[in-house]
Amino acid sequence: MREPNIYASESLDAERESGVAPEVLDLPPWGKTTVVGAPVPRIDGHDRVGGTAVYVRDLALPGMLHCAIVRSPHAHATVRRIDTTAAAAMPGVHAIITTDSPEAKIPWVLTSQGALSQLLDPHCRYEGEEVAAVAAETPLQAADAARAVIVEYETLPTVVDYEAATLPEAPKLHPAGNQPSPSRTSQRGDVQAAFATADAVVEHTFHTPCEMHVPLEVHGSVAQWDSGQLEVWDSTQGVYAVRDSLALAFKLPLSSVRVASHYMGGGFGSKLELGKYTVIAAVLARRTGRAVKCVLTREEMMRCVGNRPANTITLKAGARKDGTLVALDATLLGAMGAYPTGATSSYLMLDLYTCPNVRVVERSVLINAGQARAFRAPGYPQAAWALEQVLDELATKLRLDPVALRLKNIPVVSQLRNGQPYTSTGLAECLRRGAEKFGWAEASKAAASAGHVKRGVGLAAGMWGSPGAPSATAIIKLYADGSVNINSGAADIGTGTKTVFAQVAAEELSVKVERVRVEYADTATTQYAPSSGGSQTILVNTPAVRAAAADVKAQLLALAADELKKDVATLSVKDGSIVIAGEDRMVPFSSLRSLAQRQQLVGVGRRAPHPPGKVALPFAAHFAEVEVNTRTGAVRVIRYVAAQDSGRVMNALTFENQVLGGVTMGIGFGLTEQRVLDRQTGKLANGSWHDYKIPTAMDFPTDFQCVAVDLQDQECNSVGAKGLGEPATIPAAAAIANAVCDAIGRRIYDAPITPASIVNALSRAGGR
Ligand code: MOS
Repeated sequence: MREPNIYASESLDAERESGVAPEVLDLPPWGKTTVVGAPVPRIDGHDRVGGTAVYVRDLALPGMLHCAIVRSPHAHATVRRIDTTAAAAMPGVHAIITTDSPEAKIPWVLTSQGALSQLLDPHCRYEGEEVAAVAAETPLQAADAARAVIVEYETLPTVVDYEAATLPEAPKLHPAGNQPSPSRTSQRGDVQAAFATADAVVEHTFHTPCEMHVPLEVHGSVAQWDSGQLEVWDSTQGVYAVRDSLALAFKLPLSSVRVASHYMGGGFGSKLELGKYTVIAAVLARRTGRAVKCVLTREEMMRCVGNRPANTITLKAGARKDGTLVALDATLLGAMGAYPTGATSSYLMLDLYTCPNVRVVERSVLINAGQARAFRAPGYPQAAWALEQVLDELATKLRLDPVALRLKNIPVVSQLRNGQPYTSTGLAECLRRGAEKFGWAEASKAAASAGHVKRGVGLAAGMWGSPGAPSATAIIKLYADGSVNINSGAADIGTGTKTVFAQVAAEELSVKVERVRVEYADTATTQYAPSSGGSQTILVNTPAVRAAAADVKAQLLALAADELKKDVATLSVKDGSIVIAGEDRMVPFSSLRSLAQRQQLVGVGRRAPHPPGKVALPFAAHFAEVEVNTRTGAVRVIRYVAAQDSGRVMNALTFENQVLGGVTMGIGFGLTEQRVLDRQTGKLANGSWHDYKIPTAMDFPTDFQCVAVDLQDQECNSVGAKGLGEPATIPAAAAIANAVCDAIGRRIYDAPITPASIVNALSRAGGR
């Protein structure tokens, strides 16, 4: 219910204020590992693809009812009257709540000025906003009854064009106007003076589309009450975040709310916070004394539970002859949707390259559309789209190679974080190794093809600005038979988190991955973990897992030393056994009498704080080759190299999967995805997978290589990993845009690059 904001500037503040210094068992960095880093298949892979994994939608509790939500068909309206008489009399209906119900007043969108809305708000600010909900015996009965609820609306003027929403005559969504927060300016140096010293200056305005998250698994929850305590199964990236917001909504102590998220089919940021569907399920469950399931349809998901906000970015950049950047001046405008949330990020402009003179002005406006939410690297692909295209054009103007131009401006410290050095900086290495793998030098010099199908190559770089939360706890149990149980509250949102956790414990305790079970994402039974977002899951939680395993190992060796009458310093673990220095025999853990007596050893691990005075962040450089059909405007990405500095590769398979997924999303952002809202009515015009095109395997380049740049970071944390999910998508669309420009000799400033935009660009004078 409270908006988490993981946009860079806010997470910087949170990091400064947190000051958490958990007690830790600080472990020395790993050297070479055997299990960690190996391409271990997901431990739950068969369940996920075989259909036996139980997702929220599959869950069936005894007596469970089903919920359907009544939503405003208008993008802007007030509810005059709701009549539930007919609906309440329909078969199977157990409860109906509306804007008139007391529970409707549960506050929503909490800000320092108070709540901006409520659970069922009679002022509907976008198409799909919730006004009533029904609980019935079956999903169809619930849907039928929801359709029978009569709602009279008074429609209001609508604005969905975010540039128009800034104008004084625009319809207002909230009394304070459509720009609830003042513009924010970030500045260093003297931009104007610096542009006067530049040998080349480039300035363009870019538009990026609103994208919808569309994770495979739709959003949904099952709720039930047990002796006044609330139990919820949710498809969420963060069980603790949802628990905290539920406790607030129902005025319960944290201990009276249990949230569990078992199998999870993706979120990409849209499942970081409490959803109204969860609270509605809980309210209806309390009214009926039954469990209630509320699972959204694909169309409801597309309208109501988040999106990547559209941006307009004007960027001016200046450089000297040798490619040294002297100034960047940017304005960013983001579309928040109907309620305030972060909608832009200037992190890349401020920190990706060394530049002494930077000014960025950011503002966000409200429109009559579903609220934006964090979406895989919030704001970064938008910023990269502008920055990386402008840099390419600077390179063209200065007759420099675009790789060389970027290498000229590699930062040695974080300019945005008081000049703190990085624990490791792989940006240059990503550019060099990526270029080498791609064959950039030859490919970028290749002459234009003679036919109507043109080839081109392009690159773009990126970084991700969040170092992750400061703390996490994990517990590990070693059982008498030498098998292992990991207990962590982290959600595995589909990335392979559980598998990597098992590898970490297996590595530290020298047991087989198959002997490790992972218990996870349940606030009642598992340890605190921050939400699986911000590319932090592995780098925040696995140091805690490793510390817990080390704690167990220390206890085990002490027991063994006692039982075997050896000096503990002579003992170590290998293949599930105790090894004694200088002796051939190995003593399996399961044959230790002292372990059999205890039945289990329990180790607790906490993550060490971030390294003081330094910053650990991941970097990337992507290289794309495209084919553009100049007759049809069709663009195909035919070859791709993604070089990622994310520190240690924890699992070669899941690592490549993440990068593949990130590039796939970048192809969507660059070439096909855009939410279309009707300007007159504000209604969603492409709310289905038929009309909203996400890339599939058919659109992915067959020639794809992922280059892991591992600088063996000894300082970032005890496992040496720096985060991957988001950096893998940040530069992708920009790299494709640069390749398209190389192919057709025209730059296209607005994403996505559609066949129509290719044809339009080619009709401008001056191209190939
Ligand atoms: Mo992400 S946008 O931190 O799930």
